[in-house]
Amino acid sequence: MANKGYTPSFPSEIISEGKVKVLVPKLESYGVVPSDYAPSKAPVFYNPVMEFNRDITVLAFKAYQHIIKQEISICEPLTSQGVRGIRFAAEIEGVKRVLLSDINDHAYELANYNIKLNHLEDKITLKHKDANCILACNAAPKNRFDIIDIDPFGTPVPYLDSAFRALKNKGLLAVTATDLAPLCGVHSKACVRKYGGKPLRTEYCHELAVRLLAGCMVAVAAQHGIGVRFLFSHSSDHYIRVYAQIDYGCKRADESLKNRGYILHCFDCLHRETVRQPFSSLKCPECGAKMDYAGPLWIGAIADPAFIGQVIVENQSTAFKNTAKITKLLTQIKAEVTAPATYFVLDRLSGKLNVPTPSIQTILTALCNAGYQAVPTHFNTRGIKVNASAQTVQSLLKGMDASN
Ligand SMILES: C[S@@+](CC[C@H](N)C(=O)[O-])C[C@H]1O[C@@H](n2cnc3c(N)ncnc32)[C@H](O)[C@@H]1O
Ligand SMILES: [Zn+2]
Repeated sequence: MANKGYTPSFPSEIISEGKVKVLVPKLESYGVVPSDYAPSKAPVFYNPVMEFNRDITVLAFKAYQHIIKQEISICEPLTSQGVRGIRFAAEIEGVKRVLLSDINDHAYELANYNIKLNHLEDKITLKHKDANCILACNAAPKNRFDIIDIDPFGTPVPYLDSAFRALKNKGLLAVTATDLAPLCGVHSKACVRKYGGKPLRTEYCHELAVRLLAGCMVAVAAQHGIGVRFLFSHSSDHYIRVYAQIDYGCKRADESLKNRGYILHCFDCLHRETVRQPFSSLKCPECGAKMDYAGPLWIGAIADPAFIGQVIVENQSTAFKNTAKITKLLTQIKAEVTAPATYFVLDRLSGKLNVPTPSIQTILTALCNAGYQAVPTHFNTRGIKVNASAQTVQSLLKGMDASN
């Protein structure tokens, strides 16, 4: 045992994840039925489903370390039982210092135990403090981090300001958001309040969620004269995740702000368009109906092909339980990097037109044969990104039905 003096006051078990072993709450003891695990009901948060998120994070941080070719420091100020930060210290070469913190008493004790269990006391410092306090205490230039990982309950917004201040120039900020109800437009007012942009309940709301979070990050960074570039982002399970590299300088901040704009959407004909400036008319140019909008949000690139290429390289030399799933996700994201914003969901289109739904591959091939760039999207298994208008895609679908 790492610390014979510590016995959690709740049911717990040792699990393995990546290269580490950690003590976590025994979730079966908290589920109403086995399929209804409720990680947040346990005294310390641990979600086994998020192993996929943590695996990808390890790969992304390895890629970043490979690119900057320096020893790195990482801060994870909402660490819970510590598994994420412990994996950074154990699995990423070139990590010289990891600072973890959690405000919850049980989480702090468990993380402390887990650090010792993995013999990482020399590399990891653990605090029992508020996340913003930890970040603010490390905002002085000599203390700043190369990477900060914000993995909260719900929204990361309360931590963005202090995270930007505690990051080195060219540092990487990784954030998770699980509050998809506001971000996907179920609670529109909450989204405007937290993220400063209006969401929209469309079939591509998960991409809008990433763009709303990205837009909010750009606005907060700009207040500190910091520009932002998005290296990688994805939507998986019940959360979204964004990796942003920062660049000090007011000009860079101004450049980043230029990539905030709006996505206009027509619920009648499914036409959508991206605009930089506040718009004067919401009349649909295709059918004349009144359109709705999402934003302000980030309308620039949400991933960088070179960075994803390096994450793919890291994935090829690592064996996780989730490797096959990660390979599929990375391949899809790489293919959709240069595709236009928003996507069409096939079943939504065929339902609207009252025609049979072809396979994704059939419609992609038809669109490519017609000269368009068409790719599947990781945002939705039934989604396609294409540089054709809504009208064109619908005409093609109708034509396919007629020719059958
Ligand atoms: C979603 S859990 C973190 C999960 C963890 N990163 C992982 O990968 O398993 C969020 C954690 O933040 C902690 N927390 C909430 N508010 C906090 C605050 N203001 N400062 C520090 N920790 C906080 C909670 O106690 C909880 O353990
Ligand atoms: Zn229209």
